[in-house]
Amino acid sequence: MRPMRPTRRIATAVAAASTMTLSLAACGALGVSGDSSEASPTKGNDVTVGLLLPETANTRYDKFDYPIIRNKVMELTNKQGKVDYLNADASASKQAEQLQQMVDDQVDVILLDAVDAHAIAEGVQKAKDAGIPVIAYDRLAEGPIDAYVSFDNELVGEVQARSLLEAMGEVDSSDKIVMMNGSPTDPNAKQFKAGALSELSGTVDIAKSYDTKDWKPENAQANMAQAIKSIGVNNLKGVYAANDGMAGGIIKALEAAGVTNLPPITGQDAELDAVQRIVSGEQFMSVYKSYPQEAESAAQMAVAKVQGKDIQFDSLTQDQVDSPTAKNIPALLVPVVALTRKNIEETVVADGIYQLGDICTAKYKADCASIGLGK
Ligand code: GAL
Repeated sequence: MRPMRPTRRIATAVAAASTMTLSLAACGALGVSGDSSEASPTKGNDVTVGLLLPETANTRYDKFDYPIIRNKVMELTNKQGKVDYLNADASASKQAEQLQQMVDDQVDVILLDAVDAHAIAEGVQKAKDAGIPVIAYDRLAEGPIDAYVSFDNELVGEVQARSLLEAMGEVDSSDKIVMMNGSPTDPNAKQFKAGALSELSGTVDIAKSYDTKDWKPENAQANMAQAIKSIGVNNLKGVYAANDGMAGGIIKALEAAGVTNLPPITGQDAELDAVQRIVSGEQFMSVYKSYPQEAESAAQMAVAKVQGKDIQFDSLTQDQVDSPTAKNIPALLVPVVALTRKNIEETVVADGIYQLGDICTAKYKADCASIGLGK
């Protein structure tokens, strides 16, 4: 079944989704003291935010999510707040222990990016019972969560699939592609897949489709090797890869099978390796998700929640989503864009995610020059 599309609570939600601190401050939602936006503050600036992230294989978590959240919490609390960060290394049981530790430590609020959205529900309930609000971060954890901040995940899948079709050129329904989806315990993976299928089903022949355990590139590589055996390299017109790490594994499998002219391959997360592969033409696209927008909003939501700034909290969460266990969860869903060789400068470089020098290293200098990057 196709996951439910989020609904908007207030018409201005799009603006809220794409705005950052500045515009929120401008409309009076931030930094206002002593007015009605501070409904009985429960805490001052000595806020402790517990941050639980799911894995380290993907570079985004340590490189962007954690430092951006930490810096924003510091900024919002006049350097008196802190972030206690633990990473589960793709282990659901480890994450359950980490969540328990946060409850035992009596942190003020928890930002939770679930390894297994279903299995963690019991831990979320325990936090709730201990009076600690839980905000689901990036992946929609089950259980009684207070709010959710993420990207528009179904849009991610649609954007990936539309780009793949565009790269394949004239397609007909007998053109074979392989679909490499994400982890079955990650609810986002289901949404990426649903969004992609809404574009691909009936348009091309999805000859093989896999859900990839733990999002691991090596698992994607093994599945791809199997798909190549059954389909034959010459019959393959494109590969839908749900993220960049897996795109890397897929390329290894294709090269091991002797493919020199790679078919179009998608991705997600704008990892540096992937951006370089886009420059060199090995990977067609990635999805750029503005980490600052998601992570800074999460920090704002967490601090507002602890400090009892209800109006500010509501202004940050004007979307609404349902999980399998909770309805009408206040949410913020940040939009995403396709990243191809045409817009590297306007996206990751403009946002300061990478410098041109990070991308156009000696190995990629000529490719960068050939697409006019860094001129
Ligand atoms: C998803 C997340 C992606 C990517 C992926 C693999 O849940 O939205 O950005 O990180 O997990 O870890």
